[in-house]
Amino acid sequence: MKHIHMPKILKIDFDKPIPFKQQFAIMCTVLIISCMLFTVVYFQQLLSGNIATAGEPERAESKPAVQAAAEESSVSAPSQTSREDESKPGSAESHVTDIKEVGSDVLGNMTSVSKTYDDIHQGKLILVNKDYSCRLDGENVKSIFEAKSDSYVVTDRNVSLDMSIIENLNSMLDDFYSIYGESDIMVACGYRSYDTQVGLFNEEVESVGAQEAEQWVAPPGYSEHQTGYVFDLNLNIRGSAGIDYSGEGNYSWINENCPDYGFIIRYPSGKEEITGYSQEPWHFRYVGIPHSQYISDNGITLEEYFDIISEHKSNNPVLIEDHSGCRWCVYYVEAVEYGETNIPVPENYEYEISGDNYSGFIVTVKLG
Ligand code: DAL
Ligand code: ZN
Repeated sequence: MKHIHMPKILKIDFDKPIPFKQQFAIMCTVLIISCMLFTVVYFQQLLSGNIATAGEPERAESKPAVQAAAEESSVSAPSQTSREDESKPGSAESHVTDIKEVGSDVLGNMTSVSKTYDDIHQGKLILVNKDYSCRLDGENVKSIFEAKSDSYVVTDRNVSLDMSIIENLNSMLDDFYSIYGESDIMVACGYRSYDTQVGLFNEEVESVGAQEAEQWVAPPGYSEHQTGYVFDLNLNIRGSAGIDYSGEGNYSWINENCPDYGFIIRYPSGKEEITGYSQEPWHFRYVGIPHSQYISDNGITLEEYFDIISEHKSNNPVLIEDHSGCRWCVYYVEAVEYGETNIPVPENYEYEISGDNYSGFIVTVKLG
């Protein structure tokens, strides 16, 4: 058998101190072998897709608990430990929901549901802004004083919300509390009647003048608070007047993660021209998943979202994959102004129909 000849410089006589030249040669050899090993492992990982290349956003592999839970039930609460591990601020950035155009085949067999023109003013996706007034006025709201969890407080017993969203609010603030232990969140305001808005608006006009008032307070009949799908957060600071909640520090978790519970920040900074209002980091609007996640991940407003959705009818729906990997189809149906609208809906999937409050209906289908 042939012997492999070691270069003289790497032959070590352990009885003598190792000369500097040999020490240097050994270090270089170790360094070269480490580099080779690292290169092999790196390329293996790259090929298996565990490393994101430049320009490609990294996607989180694991599902945040709340999102996995949402697959089974749209309002169930996440487990505390997994939420703590995976839902630190910024985690939502690893999933950016996108819209894909898909053919109508994805919906399978279709049937239809009939709605009247007035029905466009009902549902969780109604658009209420300076152009479109709110036709609801407290029909489905209830006080959250009895229904709320212990993780937050309310200003008084009259704070009310649409019954269908109270669980979402509780889950979100329970999760916030379980992570940060902050117990000073206060739901300052939920549903506001037309009459309450009259008082608020007049007070603001008297105090700062009409032009300034209109940047902050909606004219009576045009406030989203009248829908029951909105609440304002404040901090329970003794003696403070006005809104102290700015969604910063630990509280930024709420503003960043609210879309996973179906809520959006309705008046974000930089969108004042579109929403008509100055930024309000305390004002949360329920629209539901997947809409909340798409709107938030893509930095758009509800107005801009409707511009996209209204281009997609049932024969050309869009597909949105939410943060948990659940797939949804969304499409728009124009309402027949004088008569009934037959809304195409799938026979074999769960769906929800909401009016848009101005021209038609939005159908949200859960494909799973
Ligand atoms: N502050 C919001 C715009 C409202 O009054 O409804
Ligand atoms: Zn508000």
